[in-house]
Amino acid sequence: VGAKEVEHRNDGNCLCVTNLVKEVNMIVSLGGKGGTGKTTISAMLLDEIARHDYKGKVLAIDGDPAMTLAMTLWLEPPSATLADIRDNTPFNARQIRGLPPGMSPTQFVLKQLKTREVIAGRKLRGMAFDLMAMGHGEGPGCYCSVNQALTGALAAVRAEYDLIIIDNEAGLEHISRYRLPQVDWLLLVLTPGQSSWAVANRIRHTAETLGMEIGQTWELYNQVSTRRGINQEQFPVNASQTLMLPACESIAALDRQGGPLPVLVEDHPLRVALSPLVEQILSCV
Ligand SMILES: Nc1ncnc2c1ncn2[C@@H]1O[C@H](COP(=O)(O)OP(=O)(O)OP(=O)(O)O)[C@@H](O)[C@H]1O
Ligand SMILES: [Mg+2]
Repeated sequence: VGAKEVEHRNDGNCLCVTNLVKEVNMIVSLGGKGGTGKTTISAMLLDEIARHDYKGKVLAIDGDPAMTLAMTLWLEPPSATLADIRDNTPFNARQIRGLPPGMSPTQFVLKQLKTREVIAGRKLRGMAFDLMAMGHGEGPGCYCSVNQALTGALAAVRAEYDLIIIDNEAGLEHISRYRLPQVDWLLLVLTPGQSSWAVANRIRHTAETLGMEIGQTWELYNQVSTRRGINQEQFPVNASQTLMLPACESIAALDRQGGPLPVLVEDHPLRVALSPLVEQILSCV
């Protein structure tokens, strides 16, 4: 790591290079077809990490415009999203020249992310962690300058944490836009079916095409019927590890009736099934 970030100077033209990224943090990124269970598993991973009394600095990133990660944990979503900052910072050359002396666009955007509480402190069990929501996608218009500043700002944000969990939308749109250089665990969430398998493969391919450094890829088959299991021949395993996560009526009931995922009992089948992953993550951070 230790990647160098390119940054605009506040004369609007020149480029300078600053080293914004520290050496070590762990990034867990979940991707998969819509509705496969990315948010449920992200929330459960966060809760398991909190339950194991993790002491490092954690950032959870909600990539879903509907901000369902906060909802699943029954936490207040951040008061502003990264998209709000992007949409309200239409950098052009004049505005960049108008920044306070010595302040680069990246520094300006970074300050906005902090002061407008896009990065919001939350608590889960005893664990303090930060939550950031990406918000809605781009409308028509040019976001090039602000996205460049955001890319630099997010690199600086990332460097502050020991562990980052990203609950993506179905694709890897945010990751590709803001040039995430490295993912330590790419978790492909699948349900037993050809279409979710095709989406997982596309995500894997996109990550490779982007040149992202990927530590381990895990395939998480979610909502697997304990009676039927999955047909391994139909879905050849293509990952470092595969986990089978059971379909649980208690999770579906929580979603129907409304309730925080952390209320699920300590020996809940989803917790048990995720434990090899949780143990690995905790042993590395
Ligand atoms: N193991 C499970 N057992 C039973 N229900 C589950 C399980 N995992 C997820 N669900 C249910 O499936 C639905 C979709 O889950 P979730 O919202 O986590 O998917 P997602 O991949 O994040 O969806 P989206 O792509 O829309 O963000 C929810 O109603 C959730 O409660
Ligand atoms: Mg989701």
